[in-house]
Amino acid sequence: MRAIRIGLLGCGVVGQGILRLLHEHAGSLERRLGAPIEVRRVVAKTEGKARAHHVPAELLAFDAESVLGDPEIDVVVEVIGGLEPAGRYVRTALERGKSVVTANKFLLAEEGHALFELAEERGVDLYFEAAVCGGIPVIRVLREALVADSVVAVRGIVNGTSNYILSRMQQEKIDYAVALAAAQEAGYAEADPSLDVNGGDATHKLTILATLAFGAKLLPSHVTTEGIEHISAIDMKMAERFGYVIKLLATARSLPVGLLDLRVHPALVPQSSVLASIHGALNAVYLEGAMLGPSLLSGYGAGAMPTAMSVVSDLVDVGRNILRDARGRVPQRTVPSQLLLRREVQPAGMHVSPYYLRFSVMDRPNVIAKIASVLGAFDVAIHQMIQEARAAGPRAPVNVVVLTHPTRDDALRSALREIQMLSGIVEAPRAIRIETAA
Ligand code: HSE
Repeated sequence: MRAIRIGLLGCGVVGQGILRLLHEHAGSLERRLGAPIEVRRVVAKTEGKARAHHVPAELLAFDAESVLGDPEIDVVVEVIGGLEPAGRYVRTALERGKSVVTANKFLLAEEGHALFELAEERGVDLYFEAAVCGGIPVIRVLREALVADSVVAVRGIVNGTSNYILSRMQQEKIDYAVALAAAQEAGYAEADPSLDVNGGDATHKLTILATLAFGAKLLPSHVTTEGIEHISAIDMKMAERFGYVIKLLATARSLPVGLLDLRVHPALVPQSSVLASIHGALNAVYLEGAMLGPSLLSGYGAGAMPTAMSVVSDLVDVGRNILRDARGRVPQRTVPSQLLLRREVQPAGMHVSPYYLRFSVMDRPNVIAKIASVLGAFDVAIHQMIQEARAAGPRAPVNVVVLTHPTRDDALRSALREIQMLSGIVEAPRAIRIETAA
């Protein structure tokens, strides 16, 4: 019987998870695929490192060419992450007629267009379920289950690390730096951990999701991105007082005017909303189809075994295509690359939403009056407002929190720039969007 022969690039947490899964589920995988999956080579970065028992020492190698240059290998699995050298390896594999399964959202968001075109040109597959939300099968849902629908909105929590940090801040009333240290200790980190907290990782995932959802040619630079680094324990406390929690939300909407609205930023979501109940390292993606209506997927978006599960499921799909000589049967981004649409993206300043504002001010006459006056001059209407009671002496600043009615981003930002210059304002105002549709 013909085996599907694979070469694995990367033997870290996910790579070792893939080997474990292939070992433990070998029987059911072979029955489902109709052929065994044979690991021909595993390329690791460092020699002499201790590895789990399911990593066969005789398969280990330390140069990618031992996989890329092996004509017997049908499928290259890339779980190294980052742009280079992973990008070079994926390109080479595709150029040499090998199908690729990757978990690399950074690479696909930044350079996916060229890579998918190359795969289509060479008649091979490039599968990537594990690149977005680890074990949650959201790519398959968008690409296959919803192929008959027209997606109008995708909204979700797609970065487990930042969700873990925000959940700890919310539950334990601790500051950002303390929660970040706890997240690092728990082992939630990317090759570059700053991408988790600055919104970059969520933006990569949203770019991929929106490309499939809207059949549009998009890049991370189209997404308005803000991270969670400036969220403080006081914001969590105040949000709670008004009936909200703070989450890092990724949102992609097709607006009635034809524009796409693409944003990643922290947002206040109602405590009663579904996304508010997604805690810790969990991810959730809410999809809204014109025909289907709302639908929610939730589960672990990272971790060795959920991610390995998605990679190996892709391997089965790719293997089936190889066995039936049907590579490229399913367009990986719902349509062939040349049919992706060019969609205009709404400029960030045009977005309209209610806002949570926090001003750190001196507790003296006329400060609030001046803030309210500037907000009014820019057409920003106040919905609710509170001032914290002064805890320390008369020179200690106090927090004033304002919830606004829906306002345009550009007007609000102009008002905040002016307010920052007023006397009695101690530090730059904080502004967080309120997402009532979450
Ligand atoms: N760092 C990512 C997260 C892991 O925290 O969600 C998987 O993409």
